[in-house]
Amino acid sequence: MASNWGTSIKSGPHLPNTIWAVGGGKGGIGKSFISSSLAICLTRLGKSVTLVDLDLGSANLHTCLGVKIPEQTLSDFVSGRVSEISQVTVDTEIQGLSFISGFNDKLDIADLTRAGRDRLINSLRQLPSPYVILDLGAGTSENTLDFFNAADQKIVAVTPEPTSIENAYRFMKSSFYRKLRQAESELGIQELIATAMDPRNENGIRSPADLIRHLNRSNPEIGGHLLSKISGYQVQILLNQVRTRQDIDLGVSMKSVCSKYFGIQANYLGYVDHDNAVWQSLRKRRPLIVEFPYSSIVGQFLGITKNLLNPHSLRAVI
Ligand SMILES: Nc1ncnc2c1ncn2[C@@H]1O[C@H](COP(=O)(O)OP(=O)(O)OP(=O)(O)O)[C@@H](O)[C@H]1O
Ligand SMILES: [Mg+2]
Repeated sequence: MASNWGTSIKSGPHLPNTIWAVGGGKGGIGKSFISSSLAICLTRLGKSVTLVDLDLGSANLHTCLGVKIPEQTLSDFVSGRVSEISQVTVDTEIQGLSFISGFNDKLDIADLTRAGRDRLINSLRQLPSPYVILDLGAGTSENTLDFFNAADQKIVAVTPEPTSIENAYRFMKSSFYRKLRQAESELGIQELIATAMDPRNENGIRSPADLIRHLNRSNPEIGGHLLSKISGYQVQILLNQVRTRQDIDLGVSMKSVCSKYFGIQANYLGYVDHDNAVWQSLRKRRPLIVEFPYSSIVGQFLGITKNLLNPHSLRAVI
């Protein structure tokens, strides 16, 4: 296998591992391509990774990786046919990369019960590789949002198209409200959050930022508690399929919209060009990083991966 980084795999600490999730709300924007590329970049930097296809119902990450659907998949674990997640984890040809397939055309992410989801999140946390990357499906189902929120790095994929941008904002808002909901029973603000979620509400609450402002005015004590619970919540915006300078700048404006209008802390992680090499490698069922190791996209992913590895120095790759 061609490699221009030539590092060896170091065994990391077994617990706790670091989870990165790739979501974005819209289908077909490159979430699986991004998840698999980040995973391979991590292995090139000497890290062991488990890549997990959580797009239950329409799992296709195995195709991005160029591997056959393993005999046992997440549905065997979720349904209890196997008891350990390690039994559905397979090695790949890429050194340091393990894979958990989500493939099962009968199992939909919405079918996961709350207990099943919590058990799955706990098991993902116990995986022996120091890095775990979750490829999420499209949409804003509660289970998808919970997997996203369980991650240490919450990556939102977006392409420079109005529909994708709209869905990315919706996805970020929904995840953030979902996070707020975890605090609601404790703080007794269920009703307020339900009101805030209704776009026609009469309190003028249109965003998480409005909700916090409203709480700070009406009940500063609870407002303060809520703020402390959500401090540190940050999403990472990754622009995919970039063609122009204007596209690149979109990440900067999305970041500021997130903070100004939604009260969500966002970071512009970087961008990846639109490149025909992506579909060319996909058709060959070979990961782009393996097929075209010297393409500019590989350098972009490497920069993004390094940014994610150093959360204190996170900055846009522009
Ligand atoms: N940077 C890129 N340049 C060119 N084509 C791209 C790029 N990123 C993704 N694509 C193309 O977009 C298509 C969808 O990619 P992918 O399957 O990764 O999206 P997805 O968000 O995971 O979709 P789904 O929501 O269906 O799971 C693929 O055909 C892929 O080749
Ligand atoms: Mg996908």
